[in-house]
Amino acid sequence: MFHQVTSQDLSFFEALLGLRCKADLPTREAYNHDHTEDLHFTPHVVLFPENTQEVSAILKYCNQNNIPVTPAGARTGLSGGCLPIHGGVLLSSEKLNRIIEIDEKNAQVITEPGVITEALQDAVRAKGLFYPPDPASKGSCFIGGNIAENSGGPKAVKYGVTKDYVLNLEIVLADGTIMWTGANVLKNATGYNLTQLVVGSEGTLAFVTKIVLKLIPHPTHTLLMLVPFFDAKLACEAVAAIFNAGITPSGMEFMEHNALLWSQAFSGDYSIEVKDNHAAHLLIEVDGFDPEQLMKECEAILGVLEQFETDEILFAESEAQKNTLWSLRRKVGEAVKVQSVYKEEDTVVPRYQLPNLLQTVKDVGAKYGFESVCYGHAGDGNLHVNIIKGELSDAFWNEELSVAIREIFAAVVEMGGTISGEHGIGLVQKPYMDLAFGKAGLDLMAGIKKVFDPNGILNPGKIF
Ligand code: LAC
Ligand code: ZN
Repeated sequence: MFHQVTSQDLSFFEALLGLRCKADLPTREAYNHDHTEDLHFTPHVVLFPENTQEVSAILKYCNQNNIPVTPAGARTGLSGGCLPIHGGVLLSSEKLNRIIEIDEKNAQVITEPGVITEALQDAVRAKGLFYPPDPASKGSCFIGGNIAENSGGPKAVKYGVTKDYVLNLEIVLADGTIMWTGANVLKNATGYNLTQLVVGSEGTLAFVTKIVLKLIPHPTHTLLMLVPFFDAKLACEAVAAIFNAGITPSGMEFMEHNALLWSQAFSGDYSIEVKDNHAAHLLIEVDGFDPEQLMKECEAILGVLEQFETDEILFAESEAQKNTLWSLRRKVGEAVKVQSVYKEEDTVVPRYQLPNLLQTVKDVGAKYGFESVCYGHAGDGNLHVNIIKGELSDAFWNEELSVAIREIFAAVVEMGGTISGEHGIGLVQKPYMDLAFGKAGLDLMAGIKKVFDPNGILNPGKIF
């Protein structure tokens, strides 16, 4: 059992942080949710440290006093990773929001965790450099949250996910110890890879206070096309065919009919015609430095698409139209949320299995009687399956649906995939972890957790 925050504890936090310790109800309630479904858990106090020493002092105190600590960034997560399910301290990275150095000579950036991902991208872009990982929430999510969840996004298909750019981390352990996990180098064969162990650990192993990221040259040109398919499964089949033709697009996104339709309604932007018989769309982007080369890649993609039944392909003619198309794609998640109560499952399979995954989702839906809207990063085999509550009964929603979800996840694992591509396990996918890992794997993870955080104060109740 955890010790709940007392007035004595609050006095300690106030002495340390002053007004950056907030225990009033409106603040606590403002921090009781992220973007996961409609879940709410209210912390006892929200703390806003502004340097590593303060984080260390907070964790040391909470560790000694058995107070649960839930790290939080911009709280845009979709698996409940930063929900303070045991109350206690919500430890916010909001005031750790400085970009410390853009090291152009080495193409690296050193940043604190509370920087908005897009702001970081814009800052390095001003120097001609590129930080590719771009979750849909890039305009509001924090880089620290991206580290915690190992976030992906559309560009992952060509450039990789967050982990592929993290070189080194300054972390604070549960007992307040401050340390660096690695070195600011592109190669590192020195001992266990603590950096990558912390990436994706969802705030359960340590609190990240500084981040060193690798950067690459920013591509100068992009071409973007929106391809309507009459058959959603054929759209999925086209994905692997394009890669197998030797092309690596910088974006290869799939949207079912309703995903695009709802996003249009949500954003009030109807500039793209979505016909009733457009079962799904692929949004395909190529990028690089040579416009002629990009044209050749587009021609090659068109050559592949000839084998599939598509309607007229839309080529974005201007930067404004590119922005419109990407904005429609990025808003699908929010659009689904306003449409209905829903549950999202972040499935991922080897790319060639994507048509089977879509079929499985629809078959399981037909068997249990639910509608789903699927969209996501098709080039990565990463499909966000949104199950719509609509008119379904609460009894079905709260009990039987998890049986259906297990069926989908079991099939995903059977195909060589797993139960989260980029949203993490957090709270809501935890019941399915046994499908992804057997006892040996789960025991190993529990052992690692115990070494980092013997008293279990860091983000308790998450992952496993
Ligand atoms: C997206 C988020 C939900 O791809 O991951 O839109
Ligand atoms: Zn996504």
